[in-house]
Amino acid sequence: MTAQPKSSKEPTRRAFLGWWLGTLLAATVVTAFAPIAVYLFPPRDPKQIKEKVRVALDAPLTALREATASRFDAPAGTAFVIADGGENNSPGDPTLGGFLTRDGGQLRAFAITCPHLGCSYAFDDGKKHFVCPCHGSEFALDGSVIHGPATAPLSHLTWQPGPGVNEIDVEGTTIGG
Ligand code: FES
Repeated sequence: MTAQPKSSKEPTRRAFLGWWLGTLLAATVVTAFAPIAVYLFPPRDPKQIKEKVRVALDAPLTALREATASRFDAPAGTAFVIADGGENNSPGDPTLGGFLTRDGGQLRAFAITCPHLGCSYAFDDGKKHFVCPCHGSEFALDGSVIHGPATAPLSHLTWQPGPGVNEIDVEGTTIGG
């Protein structure tokens, strides 16, 4: 009885070894260069992708009275980005609201995130300054600390007047989906 000739399509040991070594080499290269690729082409980081978030205020910007503040919130799917930070806040941190103040004729926008431990503070109309409900920190209209435990002033938002009389554009980012 004669041996059957091998089919030319049947994988040989040499072909299998070549395939195996090729796969091993490719896996080694990917493993070695993946960290470098991530370093060179970092993934989307919300802290690095900034855009203008348009906000509609309750009243025209010019109607904001001296020694008062107007609260505003980030529209759904967006967050504002803290410009400076201090204590528990850092530049680039997202925040979902803010206050626009007029003090000494100067307009400022602050992130609503308390620098102490991150609660949302409120404007006290009677005291004419900000009070945090969590631990009692108080801040002046220029953001400085009146009363601790917070040690850092309020964090700023970067903003500019928008096209409409009651609109402002605040530096922010898209969040979620
Ligand atoms: S979080 Fe505001 S005082 Fe502590």
